[in-house]
Amino acid sequence: MSVFIKNIGNLYTPLVSGSFAEILHLKNVSLIVEKGIIKEIKKQTDPQHDNRLNIVNGRGKTLLPGFVDAHTHPVFWKTREAEFIMRIEGKSYEEIASAGGGIRNSARNFQKAGKTEIKEVTAQRLRTFLEYGTTTIEAKSGYGLSLAAEIKALEIIAELNAEQPLDLIPTFLGAHEVPDEYRSCREDYIQLIIEKMLPQISERKLAEYCDVFCEKGVFSIAETRRIIESARQYGFKARIHADELHRFGAAELAAELGASTADHLVKVSDNGISAMSKSGTIPVLLPATTFFLRKDEYAPARKMLNAGCDVAVATDFNPGSSMTQNMQFLWTIAALKLGLISEELLWATTLIPAKTIGREREIGSIEIGKKADLILLDIPNLDYLAYHMGINHVFMTIKNGEIVYSRDTGINLVK
Ligand code: NIG
Ligand code: FE
Repeated sequence: MSVFIKNIGNLYTPLVSGSFAEILHLKNVSLIVEKGIIKEIKKQTDPQHDNRLNIVNGRGKTLLPGFVDAHTHPVFWKTREAEFIMRIEGKSYEEIASAGGGIRNSARNFQKAGKTEIKEVTAQRLRTFLEYGTTTIEAKSGYGLSLAAEIKALEIIAELNAEQPLDLIPTFLGAHEVPDEYRSCREDYIQLIIEKMLPQISERKLAEYCDVFCEKGVFSIAETRRIIESARQYGFKARIHADELHRFGAAELAAELGASTADHLVKVSDNGISAMSKSGTIPVLLPATTFFLRKDEYAPARKMLNAGCDVAVATDFNPGSSMTQNMQFLWTIAALKLGLISEELLWATTLIPAKTIGREREIGSIEIGKKADLILLDIPNLDYLAYHMGINHVFMTIKNGEIVYSRDTGINLVK
């Protein structure tokens, strides 16, 4: 079936052939979608009477590519608002984690919960992504921390990917933390990852990427190198949680290992930045996490851009350090705290994150031949998005040419 989106007031998009922050702005256009693919962008005309066309009235609103969220942890069981309150009362994320809270807290309850019940709450979280304009996410495991529970998380990702419209790109994050039962024999856990988890997950094609939380007190540089090098032998590409809480040399390692991304980077060194710019490792910045952890130091985004890196900005959606699926809110935080302007933010939340998951030819911009992953927003211009903070400007989300959320009906059309 073909869709004709008429009466689009403003269309903003990056272009695959363009360079970072260069955007195309068209006014008063319409767009034809066939079989989920963008076929034509034309000067506004009303469609001829043609009953093959399903007409969507853009009502003069603004059309953007659907957001691509390059870093999320959506598969968890219990939420952690008690830890949020502990931080408000003065405890730090690190203190809570080393006392047995944090990721280990999530792993304990995740291991006990049934797959069906976790899948159900995860599906609900995915609907929120669509409602807020995100059409593709990178989705990590990492709250299982046992062979069975990591596989349970990745199976949930695979099943939900098949059953609902949001696209999920799976990442195996068994090296998210050393679980309780391995605290005094961490080497055994690393062996479990390398000898059992990686081969089984690769065999069952349950993940495309392998990630490691490379951080003081979590996984060291040497351990991260071993895990990523074995992951590569099983065909996984790499992403690394790098230099978030301490300057650790993790960005340098990500560059050395040819990782697709290095994520967080609050404490990245100048060397780390230049190594990433040379290797093409893409920095994924997660400023909502800094904000949510009550920290004042944000990743040096401008330095990275000046060094020639293109940056992505992502939510880091997870129950501990960033409980939000809202990319629009990220625009406000990234504008205020990273100093990024709207044109940069559009790239950082669409085409660059698409590149981090190897999908820049299919998604991330509004161009002929690309998937019709589109959002219509109630904003008069691009600058308004970050400016009017904290609310949902999305009027309609279109995924593969189909309306999956519409404010008109007040409900998410996805079952
Ligand atoms: O990206 N840094 C490691 N992982 C998550 C936090 C996960 C958690 O606290 O549950 C992050 O911030
Ligand atoms: Fe994360």
